[in-house]
Amino acid sequence: GTTLKAAAAEKGRYFGAAVATGKLSTSAYTTILNREFNSVVAENEMKWDATEPQQGQFNYGGGDRLVSHAQANGMSVRGHALLWYQQQPGWAQGMSGSALRNAAINHVTQVATHFRGKIHSWDVVNEAFADGGSGARRDSNLQRTGNDWIEAAFRAARAADPGAKLCYNDYNTDGINAKSTGIYNMVRDFKSRGVPIDCVGFQSHLGTSLAGDYQANLQRFADLGVDVQITELDVMTGGNQATIYGSVTRACLAVSRCTGITTWGVRDCDSWRGSDNALLFDCNGNKKAAYTAVLDALNAG
Ligand code: G3I
Repeated sequence: GTTLKAAAAEKGRYFGAAVATGKLSTSAYTTILNREFNSVVAENEMKWDATEPQQGQFNYGGGDRLVSHAQANGMSVRGHALLWYQQQPGWAQGMSGSALRNAAINHVTQVATHFRGKIHSWDVVNEAFADGGSGARRDSNLQRTGNDWIEAAFRAARAADPGAKLCYNDYNTDGINAKSTGIYNMVRDFKSRGVPIDCVGFQSHLGTSLAGDYQANLQRFADLGVDVQITELDVMTGGNQATIYGSVTRACLAVSRCTGITTWGVRDCDSWRGSDNALLFDCNGNKKAAYTAVLDALNAG
């Protein structure tokens, strides 16, 4: 294949990008998006603060705009994210207990129902595990409503949109470590008890090296019976940026249940990482060495 999406499709994978919907009217941006990517995820527009700014008052404008663009251009949509401890609307930040639990589950139900049939995979819960060595859940207002909040969210999402794949998504899970093992244990428990979970997203916001057991970590999750995806890939600039991008791509291709890769933005200047120049296209839209490393890895073998 001569584009990311074509080369990925030849291997049965998708290749996606996070999109800021406000940029869809910038032709230099959309030209690259439409040429290279066949999956999109909203960088911010489907988050809780964006979709329910006042309790019970929903705003789907940005999300709908992205879905329309995707449908017009043959792209699938990843939904991000139904529940997360960050980017909650102010009204939810101040809530606790059963009021927050009910509001959160209602949010899941309403948003998943609105987009029913249009989302390939939902990040139902994002970043619920703590950093560091505990392997435990992160403290948050949601966690303080009870440890079962995650499974309640997955059950509500399944009921609202039975056709969407339901994912758990997190970062610093790029190898076998305490955090990824905590998530692994949760997924194993969910599978054993029939809690509906279909996939695990590995954000993969990477620095200047890649864990040697990156692929082995993806594989151990796949072996639990879930799909895995690289969901927010970006890599710090350094001598080995292209090498790391190539290694991540090869790791995904080596795991049969790794169904796709998403980069967290299109051009370096679109990235939340700013001066890290962490993406595959420079600010003028030119393909970087990292692009070639990904394309070559997709086309190999
Ligand atoms: O929308 C407001 C705008 O009205 C206001 O004028 C402006 C002033 O700061 O802020 C705008 O909101 C910003 C929003 O991006 C949209 O641009 C927020 O301040 C800013 O915090 C927000 O950052 C996003 C961040 O998530 C929030 O935590 C980034 O764009 C987005 O790339 C980032 O994405 C996350 C994933 O969702 C989860 N994984 C990590 C990843 C990187 O942090």
